[in-house]
Amino acid sequence: MLQKPRGTRDFLPAEMAQRRYIERRMRNVAATFGYGEIVTPMFEEQELFTAKSGKGIIGEMYAFEDKGGRKIALRPEITAAVSRAYVNEAQVAPKPIRWFYFAECFRYERPQKGRYRQFWQFGAELIGADSPAADAEVIALSYELLRCSGVQFILKIGHLAPMRHMLAGLNTVEQKRVMAALDKRDMNLFENSLASIGRADLCEPLVRLITAQTLDDVWAVTGDIPEKPRIEETFSCLKDQNIPFAQNFGIARGLDYYTGMVFEGFADNLGAENQILGGGVYRLAHLFGGKDVPSCGFAIGFDRVMVSFGELRPEAAPIVAVVCTPASRSAAYTAAAAFRAAGVTAVMDLMDRSFGAQLSSAIKSGASYAVLIGANEATSGTVTLKNLASASQKKTSLGEAVDEVVNDSC
Ligand code: HAM
Repeated sequence: MLQKPRGTRDFLPAEMAQRRYIERRMRNVAATFGYGEIVTPMFEEQELFTAKSGKGIIGEMYAFEDKGGRKIALRPEITAAVSRAYVNEAQVAPKPIRWFYFAECFRYERPQKGRYRQFWQFGAELIGADSPAADAEVIALSYELLRCSGVQFILKIGHLAPMRHMLAGLNTVEQKRVMAALDKRDMNLFENSLASIGRADLCEPLVRLITAQTLDDVWAVTGDIPEKPRIEETFSCLKDQNIPFAQNFGIARGLDYYTGMVFEGFADNLGAENQILGGGVYRLAHLFGGKDVPSCGFAIGFDRVMVSFGELRPEAAPIVAVVCTPASRSAAYTAAAAFRAAGVTAVMDLMDRSFGAQLSSAIKSGASYAVLIGANEATSGTVTLKNLASASQKKTSLGEAVDEVVNDSC
């Protein structure tokens, strides 16, 4: 039997109904913040992602040459693609630009629960605003998106400047190694990477920095750095909006393009793959031939949010099953169309079952009503509406049957 590729999933209707429900809620929230949807190609020139995404992502890319010899990659993330689209299409548009997306990404990772090779991100990018209020808006949007989904989560917010300030004496390679250890939250690797470059002395202040509970604790380690007012103002904008968060100046982010504020979201009830959101302030447009522009965004790991909900609710049952004989089929089509026009799910037999077998199949399917149209009903222009829960039934006009079902399902 042929199987789906490793790290991919099939979504059957019950699961899709839940995914679409959460997606719709998220889309509504994004719209209320004034964000419009952007769609970019599922594949791009490899260069787009190798420019600044960082080693981790490049190693996981689905990369190939197309028939024209172009080096192509399935997108491992969407921020770089959105920045390219901004440079191509929207540089002269009034700022700030508020865009959101819901789309699949591809990473050749080791699959496990919550980590897939094809996965969906719900994300947003705010382009052209460089202020604490802009950073806070993006965080507030991410908070509301997660909240509307019903997932239990915590947001952690930091900034790269304090850590970079502390690591200023190290060269770029050394800095990256320390930051990568932090990103993996691997404290042994973190201590070893400092020890291996003879900077074990940095261990104690860095641990104080990443475990600092208040901004004053941070400044006690770093002193007055130039980014201090911006960080304080961003936190203050978040407090003004009652956004709950924990500060964390150990957030390093796996992607290389971040330049300032960074933040991550974690679900309470997930195991190893509990990071459900990542984002921050970055600059990418100038790498793609555009004018340098400040940007800030995030992406929610939609599949992880769905995993956090656990068991699926059973698939929604059809509300009405229309039961007929071959002679009354035409009347049954009319009845089904009338229910559908009123927004009621109506299904008909497709397997040449007898009248009785259609009725028992309707009961088994969990339908709420059967609409019986035998020879009698067909000639009198009526239907028999049977409530399958109570087994009561009555002969009535099609219009009245539709009204009754509509009123019942409101
Ligand atoms: P990221 O942290 O690489 O950031 O991915 C964002 C989220 O996507 C993660 O927090 C995680 O929930 C989800 N995710 C990542 N890889 C997988 C996977 N293999 N399977 C399932 N879910 C996964 C970005 O992609 C940035 N572009 C975010 C951003 C937008 N920064 C600024 N703007």
